Amino acid sequence: MAICRGLRTRFIVLLPLIVLPLLLLPVFELHHKPNQKVQKTNFPKKSDQLVLGPSAGQGLPNRLQCQGIKAMNMNKIRPSCLQNDLGKMQNVSFVSMFIVYNGSHRMELGSIRENMDSNVIVGNTSYNKVERSIAILKTFINFIQVSMPRSTIFLLTDPATVLPIDRKNVTLFPILGDYSRGQLMLQRIRFYINFLESRLQLKYEMQNSVNHYIFSDSDVAIIDDLGHLFQNYPDFHLALTFRNNKDQPLNSGFIAVRGTHDGIQKTKIFLEEVLEVYSSKYIKASRMLGDQFALAWVVRSHLPFAAEHFQKPETFSGQINGASVLFLPCAIYNWTPPEGAGQFHGMPLDVQVLHFKGSRKRLMLESWNYYNKTLSMPNMMCLILRSGRTKYDF
Ligand SMILES: *[C@@H]1O[C@H](CO)[C@@H](O)[C@H](O)[C@H]1NC(C)=O
Ligand SMILES: *[C@@H]1O[C@H](CO)[C@@H](O)[C@H](O)[C@H]1NC(C)=O
Ligand SMILES: *[C@@H]1O[C@H](CO)[C@@H](O)[C@H](O)[C@H]1NC(C)=O
Ligand SMILES: *[C@@H]1O[C@H](CO)[C@@H](O)[C@H](O)[C@H]1NC(C)=O
Ligand SMILES: *[C@@H]1O[C@H](CO)[C@@H](O)[C@H](O)[C@H]1NC(C)=O
Repeated sequence: MAICRGLRTRFIVLLPLIVLPLLLLPVFELHHKPNQKVQKTNFPKKSDQLVLGPSAGQGLPNRLQCQGIKAMNMNKIRPSCLQNDLGKMQNVSFVSMFIVYNGSHRMELGSIRENMDSNVIVGNTSYNKVERSIAILKTFINFIQVSMPRSTIFLLTDPATVLPIDRKNVTLFPILGDYSRGQLMLQRIRFYINFLESRLQLKYEMQNSVNHYIFSDSDVAIIDDLGHLFQNYPDFHLALTFRNNKDQPLNSGFIAVRGTHDGIQKTKIFLEEVLEVYSSKYIKASRMLGDQFALAWVVRSHLPFAAEHFQKPETFSGQINGASVLFLPCAIYNWTPPEGAGQFHGMPLDVQVLHFKGSRKRLMLESWNYYNKTLSMPNMMCLILRSGRTKYDF
């Protein structure tokens, strides 16, 4: 515990950083050569191949240091307290909503073949739009099964969809609902509530066994065993990730739920309040940011002191309607490099969840291919650190 606490408090940036403009360099040093097209005179706005920029955070303590794409310090410093010591009687399951769209319409998977426009190539594989989302989902599963081989995965999906996913420890969980794109984020919270209700109806056969849940986006790579969260922070019912962003400090892309009856019940009540605030105050933003606004509204109205905590990447907690809520810094549990010209202080050494937001999704597949080839997670992290701000065509 003591070691862990030390780790959590060290994300104070000690040096001011001059942010270099992102240099666009093709990757020639990779053993695994990604699709190398003949270079056009101008780089396309969204790159169709892996591009490395500078490696941010060099010289800063507790940040990943890279030479080329070789990690210089990650193996040494990676803390042992992050090992999962949950034991045999506790499991973690990931729960992710997955729906396939083309344009703004839900897609019948039967028509994938016809939807051959705008293909992109990663490695030696060509993907159309729909195949891309399925590839992201499979990569999400790949990373989980490497980092947390004992965990299971639930995919919340439309009963009409037959997902081409046949993997061990992955279960489809069909839920009826409104899958139109405009309602997606609102629906997602409803589905999370439905899923939790279904858990409450399960019989707890073994008194001492617990199955914890982590609701997650599918464009994330879990690169460490998150079981330690439930062990090292024994008091929370649910955990959210936060960043220092005034209007959108929280999102619903990562929610950890303790698998006790209390944990599930209280998370359900918490999400019901978020859903109500969403429907009554932010319904106009139902397509995009409504979940973030509603979460922030609920948290601020119960915990006025939270706004100040959001400015520092340090774990804190608070009580909301009887639920003990743990707030985890995105720097470790939902890491994504800032977009545009924002300051970028590199990658914390104990980062555990990487989020490939927006146009970074090609990088998620490239990273998996690189890892699968080299089996070096630290070097893969250098690849991600150096190319995480590139806009890709995926
Ligand atoms: C979506 O799919 C329909 C048929 O399933 C097709 O006619 C349409 O062109 C597709 N739209 C896009 C943007 O791919
Ligand atoms: C891609 O294909 C080339 C030639 O067929 C092969 O040498 C290379 O190993 C392949 N790369 C991957 C990542 O499968
Ligand atoms: C599935 O779960 C079992 C039991 O926890 C584990 O031993 C196995 O490695 C998992 N399989 C995969 C592909 O992750
Ligand atoms: C953990 O997961 C495995 C594989 O799904 C299952 O057999 C076992 O019963 C689960 N254990 C608990 C405590 O939930
Ligand atoms: C990993 O690489 C091997 C060898 O290239 C390939 O056969 C396998 O399908 C890859 N696994 C995944 C999950 O991508």
